[in-house]
Amino acid sequence: MKKVAVLVGSLRRESINRKFAEALGKLAAGRLEFQFVELGDVPMYNEDLWADGGPAPVLRMKREIEAADAVLFVTPEYNRSFPPVIKNAIDWGTRPYGQNSFAAKPGGLIGTTPGSTGTAAGQNHLKSVLNVVDVVLMGQPEVYFQYKPELFGADGSVTDEGTAKFLNGFLDRFTKWIERTSEPRTSAQADAA
Ligand SMILES: Cc1cc2nc3c(=O)[nH]c(=O)nc-3n(C[C@H](O)[C@H](O)[C@H](O)COP(=O)(O)O)c2cc1C
Repeated sequence: MKKVAVLVGSLRRESINRKFAEALGKLAAGRLEFQFVELGDVPMYNEDLWADGGPAPVLRMKREIEAADAVLFVTPEYNRSFPPVIKNAIDWGTRPYGQNSFAAKPGGLIGTTPGSTGTAAGQNHLKSVLNVVDVVLMGQPEVYFQYKPELFGADGSVTDEGTAKFLNGFLDRFTKWIERTSEPRTSAQADAA
């Protein structure tokens, strides 16, 4: 089963994006294995911090992304863009120069807000950055998800039938996208996986 490094762009305890990502992970069970990458301990990007080899949380984050078959960004929208938590992770992930952890990695993008625009503007900003950093980004289906608590059960899973069907469509396509766009892995990588 393909492993997906999941980067959630909100650090707050009650994050709807975190809840949404966890619900997606439950729906994806049996097709994809979601591995949440901790971003809360990653410092703000500072080139000087590479002097001693780089901060441990950054090295851990980079290893987790590199070991995964794909990345999934689950992003809130902040002021019609995506939040600094995500940009910071991308900036560290693409350095040191020549050691881009995202290079040629199949990727997906999704997000939720309580408002009806469902992160459309934020996702569009993020798309342009992901293309630059060489993520092989799935373009369709786009999911701009308006978060409504009544769509989810007490255990956090999606209980609304129409919503589950819609999100399963995204996950099916993402699973196929990963299969289709994965570069052949070396035997050393396969052994480590
Ligand atoms: C700094 C800031 C800017 C925001 N800007 C937007 C915005 O442009 N569009 C939007 O739909 N919601 C916006 N919101 C509201 C967020 O969608 C809402 O707080 C959401 O719950 C954040 O996601 P989270 O629950 O995963 O942290 C903003 C929130 C913050 C804190």
